[in-house]
Amino acid sequence: MVDSPASEVLVIRSHAGPYRVELVDDAFARLEPEGRFVIDARVAELYGAQLSGILQSGSALVIEASERAKSLDRFDNYIEQLAAMGIRRGEVLVAIGGGVIQDITCFIAGTLFRGLEWRFYPTTLLAQADSCIGSKSSINVGALKNMLGTFTPPARVIVSTSLLDTLADQEVRSGIGEMLKVHAIDGQASFAAIARDYDRLLDDRETLRRYIRASLEIKRVFIEEDEFDQGRRNVLNYGHSFGHAIESATDFAIPHGVAVTIGMDMANDVAKTLGVTGTDTVERMRPTLRTNAAAFDEVDIPPHALLAALAKDKKHVGADLTLVLPDAQGRIAVLRVPNDDAFREACEAYLARRHAG
Ligand SMILES: NC(=O)c1ccc[n+]([C@@H]2O[C@H](COP(=O)([O-])OP(=O)(O)OC[C@H]3O[C@@H](n4cnc5c(N)ncnc54)[C@H](O)[C@@H]3O)[C@@H](O)[C@H]2O)c1
Ligand SMILES: [Zn+2]
Repeated sequence: MVDSPASEVLVIRSHAGPYRVELVDDAFARLEPEGRFVIDARVAELYGAQLSGILQSGSALVIEASERAKSLDRFDNYIEQLAAMGIRRGEVLVAIGGGVIQDITCFIAGTLFRGLEWRFYPTTLLAQADSCIGSKSSINVGALKNMLGTFTPPARVIVSTSLLDTLADQEVRSGIGEMLKVHAIDGQASFAAIARDYDRLLDDRETLRRYIRASLEIKRVFIEEDEFDQGRRNVLNYGHSFGHAIESATDFAIPHGVAVTIGMDMANDVAKTLGVTGTDTVERMRPTLRTNAAAFDEVDIPPHALLAALAKDKKHVGADLTLVLPDAQGRIAVLRVPNDDAFREACEAYLARRHAG
C-alpha cells in the first residue's frame, strides 16, 4: 500500500514525545500482527474478514462497547485475560474501536506493568475527530462516570474514514457534535463554515475527512499547550458540563456527542438569560445544533436530575459553577457563575421551552 502524503499526517507533541496521526484510506491494511489487541466486538463482527488473522491469533481481547464495559470492576477480567495470553512488560497494546475501547486500552496502557506503549485505530467519528488525541484515559467507578484516569498518549493513531460507513446515524451525529464544538471554540467563522457544510458531512466522505482533520488541528493547539488540563484546555469542555448532566439525567439515553450538542445550546441559552452573552450567539448556532440533536427531541430531560448532576460536576469550585460559556463578544470562555436561583431558573426555563418545541 502506498504511504499517505505528508499532508495527511499530523504530529502531536506530548510529554512522552511526539506521535503521528495518519489519515489513510484503508487502516486495516496497515495492521501489523505484533502486540496484543483490544477490539470492539461490533467491529470484530463487521470487519471479521480483515481482522481474522488477529482474531484467531489468541492475542485479542474482544469487548462489547458500553459505559459498563469501562467500569473499574471489569478490569480484573481484562487483566486476567491479557495475562492468560502471556502479555509481558515492553509489549504493545493496539486498540481498535471507539472511545470506550480507547479509554479501556489507554487506562490499561497507563497502569499495566506501570506503562505500556499503545496504538489506536479509531472506528467511530467521535474517536477519529476528537478523542484519539489528547492523552486522556477515563474510566467509570460504579455510577460515577470518568472518575479514574491517566494521561497516557498513544504512540501512533491511524484514522480511516472508510470504517465509518458501518456506523449508526446517531453515532455519526455524536461525532459531529464534538466537531461542531471545536469549531465553535475556534471562532465564529469556523463554526459558520462547518454549519454551512453540515449536510455534506453526512453524505460526502471527502468533506467529512477534511473536517475531521480540521477538528484535530484545532484541538491540537489546546492539548499541546495544556496537556494536563491545567488551564487553556478547559475550554474544550464547552457543552460538556451541561452535556454530562444531560447524559446522567437521561440515564445515558442520548449519545455523548449529541448530549454535548444540546449542552452547547443550553450553555448559550443560559448565558443569554444571565446576561453573560448577547442573543446573537444563541440564534447563530441554534439551527445547526437543533438539527444535529433532532433525533432525540422527544427524550425527556428532568430538570431536577439535571440540576443535581450539574452541582456534582467535579470541575466546580466552592459555591460557584465553573462553566464554559459564550462571553459578551460571543467567544467561548471559561467563566464562573453563582449556583443561585437565577442560574437554576435559567436552566429550568431552557428545558421547559425545549419541551414546548
Ligand atoms: N478519553 C478521552 O479523551 C475521551 C474523549 C471523549 C469521549 N470519551 C469516551 O468515549 C466514549 C464514547 O465513545 P464513542 O462515541 O466512540 O462510542 P463507543 O466506543 O461506545 O461506540 C459507539 C457504538 O458504535 C459501535 N461501533 C464502533 N465502531 C463502529 C463501526 N466502525 N461501525 C459500526 N459500529 C461501530 C460500538 O460497538 C458502539 O456500539 C464515552 O465513554 C466517553 O466518555 C473519551
Ligand atoms: Zn466529549
